Amino acid sequence: MITGHATLAGVMGWPVSHSLSPRLHNHWLEQGAIDGAYLPLAVAPEHLGEALRVLPKMGFAGCNLTIPHKEAAVTIVDALSENARRIGAVNTVIVREDRSLYGKNTDATGFIENLKSKARIKEEHKQCAVILGSGGAARAVCVALIDEGWKDIVLLNRTYSKAHAVAEQLGEPVRAERWERREGWMSQSMLLVNTTSLGMKGQDTLDLSLHSLPEEAIVADIVYQPLMTSLLIKARARGNPIVTGLGMLVHQAVPGFKAWFEVTPVVDSSLESFLLEGMQTP
Ligand code: ATR
Repeated sequence: MITGHATLAGVMGWPVSHSLSPRLHNHWLEQGAIDGAYLPLAVAPEHLGEALRVLPKMGFAGCNLTIPHKEAAVTIVDALSENARRIGAVNTVIVREDRSLYGKNTDATGFIENLKSKARIKEEHKQCAVILGSGGAARAVCVALIDEGWKDIVLLNRTYSKAHAVAEQLGEPVRAERWERREGWMSQSMLLVNTTSLGMKGQDTLDLSLHSLPEEAIVADIVYQPLMTSLLIKARARGNPIVTGLGMLVHQAVPGFKAWFEVTPVVDSSLESFLLEGMQTP
């Protein structure tokens, strides 16, 4: 039940209709019997600044940002968290008491929390991680793995210059290598993460042989539509531990929910199936 005191938040995207965040946050609101609402906010790129500035004026506690706003928001908010600065993107905006906008990035913690909840990572395995892609998601994964103490983080991207720029910006242990040589890196990889759009519904599949990948190497995909991408199917068939992408969406949402609604939401195994049902409804 929403009263006149309800706390408001939402997600800005363009388009925004595909976003699972309203389903997730409103589920948590209902579960906690919280007087609040979380709305899909369709905001065109040219209106992002205006829309963010209006949040405090409309009494919003904050919002999430999705494609294509995460990077543009960096220069709009009044202050940035350390991770938002390192990743160069904002996915969570919090309206502070003085009505200023604080931009955070929770994708790195979302990735790592999901990884830890689904796979056991031994300290001695934190050697070489191979990341496919070099967009915002890849930067978040790199930051997460740097902070977790991985020794060698190899970025492979179709456009080498982008991987190189990310490696330059984040510094050691991140380094850029050639996409064409991706198969050669498999034998050293103890963690393989796909952050490209390859494997996503409607996109090409990822062309990569896993035959030299160590058996205990973890294979993670941040694509969650479909949940079992061809990469994950291939990895599971040869016995590698796998990590699906939907959990990252769940875990990255927790800090925003906590900040806006002042309640820690419950993350349990039923949440992912609840979200999957939402993906099947048009
Ligand atoms: P995000 O911010 O979600 O990471 P993005 O910035 O659009 O999204 O990044 C998408 C990634 O998928 C990029 O690394 C892109 O490679 P390019 O930098 O060369 O564009 C990668 N990608 C998309 N389509 C690809 C394809 N057909 N083959 C290889 N990589 C692809």
